[in-house]
Amino acid sequence: MTLDDFAALVRARRTNMQVQADREVPGELVEQLCALAQWAPNHKRTWPWRFCLVTTGREAFGNRIADTLAARGEEAEKVAKTRRKYLRTPALLVVGSAGGDSTLRTAENRDAVAAGVQNILLGATAAGLASYWSSCPKGANEVAAELCGFTADTQIVAIIYLGWQADTAVTPQRPAVQLNTL
Ligand SMILES: Cc1cc2nc3c(=O)[nH]c(=O)nc-3n(C[C@H](O)[C@H](O)[C@H](O)COP(=O)(O)O)c2cc1C
Repeated sequence: MTLDDFAALVRARRTNMQVQADREVPGELVEQLCALAQWAPNHKRTWPWRFCLVTTGREAFGNRIADTLAARGEEAEKVAKTRRKYLRTPALLVVGSAGGDSTLRTAENRDAVAAGVQNILLGATAAGLASYWSSCPKGANEVAAELCGFTADTQIVAIIYLGWQADTAVTPQRPAVQLNTL
C-alpha cells in the first residue's frame, strides 16, 4: 500500500449514518474490526479495549439509557429521542476503556482505545460500512457499561453506529496543517 492509498482511505471515512436499514452487519466482520482496534499502540500493554455489539438489543439499550436520563431530570424531548436513536443503524458497537491502576494509566488506556476506535472506523470504511462515532450520553456511562457486561470502572469511549453505506456524507473541510519546527 502506498501513502496515497492510505490517505485516500483516511479521507474517505466520514461520520455517516446513511445506511441500508435492513441489511445486517455480520458479527464476524465486526469482530475483525475489533481485532484492528487491538493493534493500536497501548502503553504498558494493558489491553484496555472492551467491545459490545448491540443489534437486537438496540431498543432495550436505548430505553435503559433514556430511563436513566429521565431519572436524572433530563428534558422530555431528549429522553424521547434517546429511546429511538439507537435504531437508526442495524448495529452499534460500544467500545469501552478499562480503568487503570492510576489516573495516568486510566488516561493512557483511554488514549489507546480512542486510537483503536479510529482503526475500527477506517476498517469499516474499507469494508464499505458507514460509521458514526457518538459519545455515551452524559450520566449514562454506568448503565451502558453494565448493559454491555463491562466492569464498573470502564469508560465508554464510543458508541459506533454501523451499517452498509447507502449514501455518502458531506465532507467537513479541515484547517491547513500548522507544523511548528524547532
Ligand atoms: C470523541 C468523539 C466523540 C464524538 N461524539 C459525537 C456525538 O456524540 N454526536 C455526534 O453527532 N458526533 C460525534 N462525534 C463525531 C464528530 O461530530 C465528527 O467526527 C465531526 O463532525 C467531523 O466529521 P467527520 O468525522 O465526518 O470528519 C464524535 C467524535 C469524537 C472523536
